[in-house]
Amino acid sequence: MTDDLLVLDGLTVTYHTKQGPVRAVDGASFAVPRGQVVGLVGESGCGKTTVARAVMGVMPNAAEVGGGPVLFEGRDLIRLAERERRALRWKEIAFIPQTAMSALDPVQRVGRQIEEVLVERGGRSRAQARARAEELFGLVGIDARRLDDYPHQFSGGMKQRASIAIALALDPKLVLADEPVTALDVIVQRQVLDLLKALQARLNLSVVLVTHDISVVAYACDRVVVMYAGRVVESGEVAEVLERPRHPYTMGLTNAFPDLERAGGELVPIEGNPPNLLHPPKGCRFAERCPFAQPRCEQAEPPLATDAAGHASACWRSDEAPALRPLAAEAATWRR
Ligand SMILES: Nc1ncnc2c1ncn2[C@@H]1O[C@H](COP(=O)(O)OP(=O)(O)O)[C@@H](O)[C@H]1O
Ligand code: SF4
Ligand SMILES: [Mg+2]
Repeated sequence: MTDDLLVLDGLTVTYHTKQGPVRAVDGASFAVPRGQVVGLVGESGCGKTTVARAVMGVMPNAAEVGGGPVLFEGRDLIRLAERERRALRWKEIAFIPQTAMSALDPVQRVGRQIEEVLVERGGRSRAQARARAEELFGLVGIDARRLDDYPHQFSGGMKQRASIAIALALDPKLVLADEPVTALDVIVQRQVLDLLKALQARLNLSVVLVTHDISVVAYACDRVVVMYAGRVVESGEVAEVLERPRHPYTMGLTNAFPDLERAGGELVPIEGNPPNLLHPPKGCRFAERCPFAQPRCEQAEPPLATDAAGHASACWRSDEAPALRPLAAEAATWRR
């Protein structure tokens, strides 16, 4: 039996916009086991950041969080009082944003920023904070003398290491990393992911790694949750899901990105765009782009069905996946 640190069960998030309500996350369910890295993957606009922000408890005012529960060690995060949420933020659940720019203040020395977190959120003394900042820089592989640098003196990779140091400052159990390597070149991506993996194993952290790039999932994650248009469409162990995807969207994603470790192979984009969530389709949300769509797909939304091994998929044709996979690997299948 796995020991789950975080369990989402039917999370919904609605943004109230001038045009009407946008259900950005519609019944998201998945678990994050202790000591594992879970990749949350899907194209831009699928609701990944919204899930991460709802777990962290930092949402804009116009957002309405519902459904659930979202259980963190048995406590329902979305029904906690703000004071209790604040007590968890950074100390138990920490966040690494997409661009280190939003984690780091450009006009303050990096070390000072880490110390600030330790003093203000962690109640450490100044001297304790300095010692811990030095230790944290050691952990993320930056010379402690660089604590007195300003962010602009750091390379992109170093900035992202520094934002990992900030996230780890107060020994959280869960780290939510939102596209932590997207802005970096491939070699630096690998270095930052290697660091994140090494620290995760050493500190027995649970990590939710948000990415649009399925090769990042293949490289760094134990489990994967694939989101499309606000819904979870497939989830399970990485080795299982990426080798035997059951949802055509996952099959499409695996063709659409180069491997992080070896180049080559034809890349096949998934044509078209996710649907407008102001007016989501009635049936399968992927139907418009799916090469395997049938009339029934547009009539009713397929439920997320999980097998005995924990591999879940929301496709009416999941049972036919072994026959569909070779077709999905051919570029011609995806051409209009
Ligand atoms: N503050 C907001 N107000 C209104 N709509 C938003 C807001 N943030 C995100 N959305 C919408 O919610 C959907 C999901 O966005 P997001 O969670 O950022 O997706 P992802 O991280 O997968 O790219 C998108 O349709 C996006 O336009
Ligand atoms: S339910 Fe139909 S349209 Fe949706 S992914 Fe499966 S085959 Fe494609
Ligand atoms: Mg995002």
